[in-house]
Amino acid sequence: MNYRHGFHAGNFADVVKHTVLLQLLDYLQQKASPYCFIDTHAGDGCYDLTALPTQKTLEAEQGIYRLLMMKPHPEMLEQYLAIACKEQNYLGSPLLAAQCSRPIDRIILNEKHPESYLALKKNVQGYTNVAVHERDAYEFLPALLPPKEKRGLVLIDPAFEDKQEMQHLIACLTQCMRRWPQGLYLIWLPIVGRNDYKVRDLTHIGFEKYLTIEFYIKTPSIDAPGLIGCSLLLINPPWQIETQLHPLLDYLWQVLHKDQASTWSIKVHTDSKIK
Ligand SMILES: C[S@@+](CC[C@H](N)C(=O)[O-])C[C@H]1O[C@@H](n2cnc3c(N)ncnc32)[C@H](O)[C@@H]1O
Repeated sequence: MNYRHGFHAGNFADVVKHTVLLQLLDYLQQKASPYCFIDTHAGDGCYDLTALPTQKTLEAEQGIYRLLMMKPHPEMLEQYLAIACKEQNYLGSPLLAAQCSRPIDRIILNEKHPESYLALKKNVQGYTNVAVHERDAYEFLPALLPPKEKRGLVLIDPAFEDKQEMQHLIACLTQCMRRWPQGLYLIWLPIVGRNDYKVRDLTHIGFEKYLTIEFYIKTPSIDAPGLIGCSLLLINPPWQIETQLHPLLDYLWQVLHKDQASTWSIKVHTDSKIK
């Protein structure tokens, strides 16, 4: 395991993923009853943007810093911008979720990399509703489902350094659908070059309703190595969440894209295979 999220913290893909995540947590808080948030690939939780990894790639310059320079911001982004980046620190999904949660909500974090796990444990110290685990995400997640709260969100945000990642993801999601088909699942996929990680490889599993987001900052080309976009798959999207996400993502695309010919999209799908 070589991947360290510190090299990419606060990049355009983090901005997209974390703003969508906050909208979903906000939706879950509209009900008084508690929810459970599970982050299967949690990372360190908090990243110092002046530290060497981030300085080496300067990805945050094209992500969170670019966004922070634009003013005024749309109201919907205010919560994210107020908590995600304070001084030199950028918060990852675990701390964003912890900061937004109510004491009654339960947060389960998992991270397999030993150093990231230790950093994560330290970074969430003091949150009494947070538990941290050091397991393999794909064997850990199905065993947790369904959560006792019977409502909540699972974030699956892999590093994609394992050649078998998609196979693990498909096998894991298939089990999750048997154990908790009503759950809300947000899955992040990279778009690189000719795109090896296709959302439709996951949707073959068969979900009653799902939403897909494709967000490109550059046009696909074999000459453009590296990350040129990202996809999000949201299984069981809340009613009309797309109408909230649309203006938000459109604004983010206006700020973050590098190539005018690139595009973004949001679509809601229903699967006729499911009865
Ligand atoms: C993209 S980063 C997570 C970023 C984090 N979710 C955020 O948004 O702030 C992916 C993380 O998954 C961890 N990881 C990789 N393979 C894993 C596995 N099989 N089980 C659990 N964690 C894993 C990596 O060490 C890395 O920290």
